[in-house]
Amino acid sequence: MHTKLSELRRYLVEINTYATGQLFTDCLVIGTGIAGLRAAIEAGENCNVTIVCKATMQDSNTWNAQGGIASVLGKADSFQSHIADTLKAGCYLNKPDVVELVVKTGPKLVTQLEEWGTEFDKNGSDIDISLEGGHSHARIAHALGDSTGRGIAEAMIRKLRQNPNINAIENFFCIDLITDEENHCLGVIGLNKNNNLQIIWAKQTILATGGAGQLYRETTNPKIATADGLAMAYRAGAVLSDLEFMQFHPTTLYIAGASRALITETLRGEGAILLDCNNYAFMSDYHESAELAPRDIVSRAILAQMLKTNSTHVYLDIRHFDKAHFSKRFPLISGLCESFDIDVSKDLIPVRPSAHYMVGGVKTDLNAKTNIKNLYACGEVAATGLHGANRLGSNSLLEGLVFGQIAGRNAAEKSAKTGGNMKPYMLNYKVPTSDRSRLDTADIRNSLRALMWRNVGIIRRDKHLVEAGEIIGFWQRYVMDKEFDAPEGWQCQNMLTVSMMAAHAALLRKESRGVHFRQDYPDTDDKNFKNHIDIQR
Ligand code: FUM
Repeated sequence: MHTKLSELRRYLVEINTYATGQLFTDCLVIGTGIAGLRAAIEAGENCNVTIVCKATMQDSNTWNAQGGIASVLGKADSFQSHIADTLKAGCYLNKPDVVELVVKTGPKLVTQLEEWGTEFDKNGSDIDISLEGGHSHARIAHALGDSTGRGIAEAMIRKLRQNPNINAIENFFCIDLITDEENHCLGVIGLNKNNNLQIIWAKQTILATGGAGQLYRETTNPKIATADGLAMAYRAGAVLSDLEFMQFHPTTLYIAGASRALITETLRGEGAILLDCNNYAFMSDYHESAELAPRDIVSRAILAQMLKTNSTHVYLDIRHFDKAHFSKRFPLISGLCESFDIDVSKDLIPVRPSAHYMVGGVKTDLNAKTNIKNLYACGEVAATGLHGANRLGSNSLLEGLVFGQIAGRNAAEKSAKTGGNMKPYMLNYKVPTSDRSRLDTADIRNSLRALMWRNVGIIRRDKHLVEAGEIIGFWQRYVMDKEFDAPEGWQCQNMLTVSMMAAHAALLRKESRGVHFRQDYPDTDDKNFKNHIDIQR
C-alpha cells in the first residue's frame, strides 16, 4: 500500500550554499548509536568518514539499552529457532531474507564486539545468556549487568577514535539532507556547536539517527529521540514504511514527576511477577506464557488491568530474588530503586507501559540502501523488514550491528568508485514568508505528546486517529510555515511531521497486528493487510 501526504516545504531553513560554511567527506554518518558507530568503523577502513550527532556520543538509545543483544550463542539454540521466534513476534510481516541475514550474521559480530573490548558478562569462559519474553531459548548477551548498551558503545567509541580516518563531531544538529534534482543525496545542512549553519558535503550519507519515542508523553527514550531522521528523509523524498508500528515497553518505572526509566524485561525472564494494586498476579489471565508473553500482549494486559482496578500503574514483584544477586546482575535498576527508597526485598516496583521503539522507518533493502541515491539507513531509523509488526526484545542492537556494517561497507565501496573530490552544489533556497500567528512550540510539543499517547497509543480507534490527524493538521498550519533558528523549533516541526504520518498509517491499517492494536478491528486481516504501508512525500 503506498500513500502520499500533503506537500510540505522541501527545506526547513533558507540555504545559500555560497554563503554557508562547508566541510567535505567521503562518507557522512548521522547518529552515534550502535548502527552509526558500526557503520563509521566499517567505512573508516576504506575511506574518510565524518560522524555527527546532535548531542554527545553518549546520548543515544543504544547507550541506555539494558537487557542486551540477542544472538545464537548457546549450544541448545539454533538459527532456525531465532528465525522462527523473530517471525512469530513480527506476526509474519517480516521479510524472511532479512531475518535470515541478521540472525546468521549476528554471532560473528557479537564476538567481534568482545575483541573490541566489550566485556560481556560471563558464565565460566562463555558469554552468559539470558531469556526474554518471546524467545524460546536463552540468547540475550549482556554486559555490566543491565548496562549492556553502555558496555557496547564504550568499546565501539574507543575503536572509532583509534582510526585517524574518522572525524567525530558532537553537538551538530542536522536540519535537512541536501538532494539534487536527480534524487542524489549530497550531504546535510545543520547547525554546528557555534550556532552557525554548516553544510557537510558527502559522497555517501548514512542515516542512523535512531528513534521517535519523544512523540509520546510516556517514553523510555532520551530527550534527543525526536524523529529528526525520519522527518528529514521524508522531506528529501525517501519512502517510509510501517510507521503505525510503535512498540510500547510494558515496564517503565512509574513515579509521578520522574522520567520513565526502563525496567528491563530480563527481570521477568528471571522470574519477576506482575501484580495489580490488589496484589493479584494477573498475567496468566491474559496469556499462557504469563510474564513471558510478547511485549505487546503484556503492555495491553497491564493497561487492561489498570483500567479494571482504576489504577495509574501495576507492580513488578521481585521480593523473592536473592538481593545480592539482584544488585550484582542489575546494578542500574538496583541503584534506580534505591534512589526512590524502594527496597526491592520488601517493596513492589511501580511500573506501567510506555513508548519504546519505532519499528517502522526509512525503507531499505538488503544493502541498507534507500530509494534516494547515495543515501543509506540503518538502526532504528530504518525499516529493514527484520521486525515485521513487532520487534522481538533485544533484536534491535543486533539489527543495528548487522546493518551498520552493511551500510558502512557499501558506502565505502561506492565512495571509492566515485573517485575525485566532492564538489559543492549550488543551491539557493528561500523560505516563503508567512503571515499566520506564531504558536508556542514548547506548548505544542507537550500537547502533541499527550495527544499521541491518548489517541495513537497502545489501543487505537478510528475516531481517535481521525481526531489526532485533525489536531496535528491544525498545529502544522501554524508551525510548518515558520522558519526557526534553533533545534527546539526544528524538532517541533519534525515531531509534527512524523506524528501525522504515524497517525495516518495507523488509521489506514484497519486490523490488529503486532504492536498495532485497533479496538474497532481487533482481528488480524491477512487478506487485506498482510502488507506494508509506505508513505512518500
Ligand atoms: O527490556 C529491555 O531490556 C529492553 C530490551 C529491548 O528493547 O530490546
